[in-house]
Parts: sequence; structure tokens; C-alpha cells
Amino acid sequence: MTYKYDNNVKTMTRAGKVIPCGVYGHLGPAEGCMIPSSAYPFFASRAKGSEMWDVDGNRFIDYMCGYGPNVCGYCDPDVDGAALEQIKKGNCTTLPGHIMVDFAELLTDLVHKDWAFFCKNGGDVTSFAIMIARYHTGRKKIIFVNNYYHGVAPWTQKPDTPGTLIEDCCNSLYVDFNDIPALTKLIEENKDEIACFIATPYMHGNFIDNELPQEGYWQKVRELCTKHGIILIIDDIRAGFRLSLEGSDTYFGFEADLITFCKALANGYNVSALCGKEFLKSAASTVPYTGSYWMSSVPFAAGIANLNKLKANDACAHFRAMGERLTNGLLKTANELNVPLKVSGHPALFYLRIVDNDGSFLLHQEWIAECVKRGVFITNHHNHFINLSLTPELVDETIEICSYAMNEMVKNNPESFR
Ligand SMILES: Cc1ncc(COP(=O)(O)O)c(C=O)c1O
Repeated sequence: MTYKYDNNVKTMTRAGKVIPCGVYGHLGPAEGCMIPSSAYPFFASRAKGSEMWDVDGNRFIDYMCGYGPNVCGYCDPDVDGAALEQIKKGNCTTLPGHIMVDFAELLTDLVHKDWAFFCKNGGDVTSFAIMIARYHTGRKKIIFVNNYYHGVAPWTQKPDTPGTLIEDCCNSLYVDFNDIPALTKLIEENKDEIACFIATPYMHGNFIDNELPQEGYWQKVRELCTKHGIILIIDDIRAGFRLSLEGSDTYFGFEADLITFCKALANGYNVSALCGKEFLKSAASTVPYTGSYWMSSVPFAAGIANLNKLKANDACAHFRAMGERLTNGLLKTANELNVPLKVSGHPALFYLRIVDNDGSFLLHQEWIAECVKRGVFITNHHNHFINLSLTPELVDETIEICSYAMNEMVKNNPESFR
């Protein structure tokens, strides 16, 4: 029995009339994650722990976790309890709540940085990091790693992106991940002009196999940045608090000058953070930057409860163990069926791809579709996420569903699996 999506389609028809794209951004069909659209639901009705139900009542074990924010489990009683207590005391007050200071102390202590600045979304803090680096160094250029994603502000885009100007991108330089010779050359060619190097702690780009740093890579990047006065920015918005609660720079054995957090910071309550070293605090105090809701107290209360819960439960060890249990189970089935499944990235944020001979994603998409229609919510183009509420039993149920789905995909494509 596969799922039916009648109410999802009806709701999407209504949405399309009043909302651009119906669902916009990376949750929407325009991003490619809903292909094939016959397989995916569009709207949720509720969620709890690791499970989500759509508007047709279909139940999914959800490995997208809201694209990251679900880190403790949906509707976690401890995090929601702390948020509800804070609602009773006030949220958007004229003076910021003192809980902002509590949160900054907890966070800076955890990630070994000297200060924290809070915003709402990932793109708010990556943009602020760039502004601070430019102001501090008096330089314009930014080095990006190819296949990066740091949000949607014009400085993050390519000149052919709708709504972006050539001028927005004329200080952008690009290098491949793990390529120290190319980075060294780029720095030499742009001596004293580079404000910052911005990268995720490992390459977890979309539609590509994910890539971990080679031995010594980050230490060499750190050395080059220090030598040339380049600010080293780590975008830990996606991987932060899933590899290590101390920040992914600590996890890989180096120290960033600035590091951004967002998705796993408050279990879905809206807060992001830029944390930095002392020598950049003056720049962070000088560059004008603020927003109407950036000091609201409820997300701070949720963030404190969330980080404390992750710490108390050794969450990162759980993420790794569950990620490995799941991907090992999927690889076992793939081997038995002669399906070339590739697993890449960190187990807490595993990326999946069935390697198709023609280089397309068609077989992979077909398998994903068979999984989603049977209750495992995964995507064809993005890394997945593990959360603290995921149990071995749910993982084993997932393996069973995905294995059945893989069998179906193989049956439907006999010519590809002789
Ligand atoms: C690595 C990375 N940086 C930045 C962002 C942008 O975050 P937001 O969508 O909250 O602005 C994302 C979002 O997916 C991300 O994964």
C-alpha cells in the first residue's frame, strides 16, 4: 500500500493562488526536492519526536528534520516547556531579557569563542560575518568553496541568479574544497585584497557526494589565513551541534575566527548566532546590524534547554550511532540487490546517491520516491539529519521500508540491474 496525497494536492492548489510558488525556497517544489511530485506530500499537520504526519494523515519517519532544526525531537517537552515558561514572562520586550546573556554565556563557553551575537536565520549571521571581516580588514574579496551554500543574500549568489547584480559578485573568488595548492595560488594572486575565506566544515553541498576534509587540510587553511591576515569563517549552520557540541572547527582540530550557528541551536525556535574571537569584537560592535525580533526571549529559553539537553544526552554520539546503523543497513540491502548505493559525508548528516551509469539521478529519485510513498521521508538532493529522539527501532523500521522500496525500484528497472 502506498500513500495517497489528495488533501496535499488540494492545499497546494490553494497555496499556489496566494503564495509565490505555493511553497517557496528549499521546502518547495522549485528546489527539486519534490521530484517526482507524485511521491511527496506538501503540507504537514503535526509532528512528534522523529515522526511527521501530512494533511492526508500519512505518517513519515522524517530524516529531513525540518532541514536541520529538529535536533532534540519534534515537540520536545523540555525545550517546549522552557519556551512556554518564557512566554509567560515576555518575549519581545523593550529591553532585551536577561536570558540573552545567559544564552550567550552558555554558547560561548560551549564553542570556545569570546562573544555571541544573535539573529534569526542562517543568512543573517553569514552576512554579518562577511561585513565584520570586510570592516576589520579594510579588504573586499571573499573566497568561497565551489558548491557552497551560505544563504540567499546577493553576495552569496552568482551574477546570473535572478535579482542579483554583477556588482554583487565582483569580489567573489572560488576554489575547490580540499585543494590547498589552488587556495595558496589564489591568495598569492590577490595579495592583501582578501577579507575572508568562508566555508562549511566539510563539503555538504546539494546534488553532489559530500566530502570530508583531508588529513591536515584545515590546519593548513588556518595557517594560510593567519599568515595573510584573512579572516577564517566557518559556516556551521547545517553541521553545527551534530558533529560536536563544541563547534565543528573544534571537531576538526582547528580554530575559526568567526563561526555561524542556526539550525540545531534551539530545536526549531527561531534564533541564529555568530560567535567570534576577541580581536573581532570591536568590529562586531561597530558594524550596524539589528532586526525587530533578534532579541526575543522565547528562542533564547528554548536554546538553553536544547543545548543542555544535547549535552546531558551525549547527543553527537547518538547521531553517529544511529546514522551508522541506518546507512550500514541500507548498504547491506544495496549489496544484496547489486545496487551501487553511495553513502557520503558524516553519519549524523549522511548523503545518499544511487550511482547511475548515465550520471543522472533518475534511479536514485525513483528509489527515494518509493521510500517516501511508504513512510520514510528522505530526499534526492540533500544531506539528511539524525535527531536525538530517533530510536534503533525506528531506524530498523526505516531500513525495512527502504529495502522493500529498493526491491521495487530494481523490479521496475530490470535493464539497469542485470
Ligand atoms: C550551510 C548553510 N549556510 C547558510 C544557510 C542559510 O540559512 P537560512 O536558510 O536559515 O538563512 C543554510 C541553510 O540551509 C546552510 O545550510
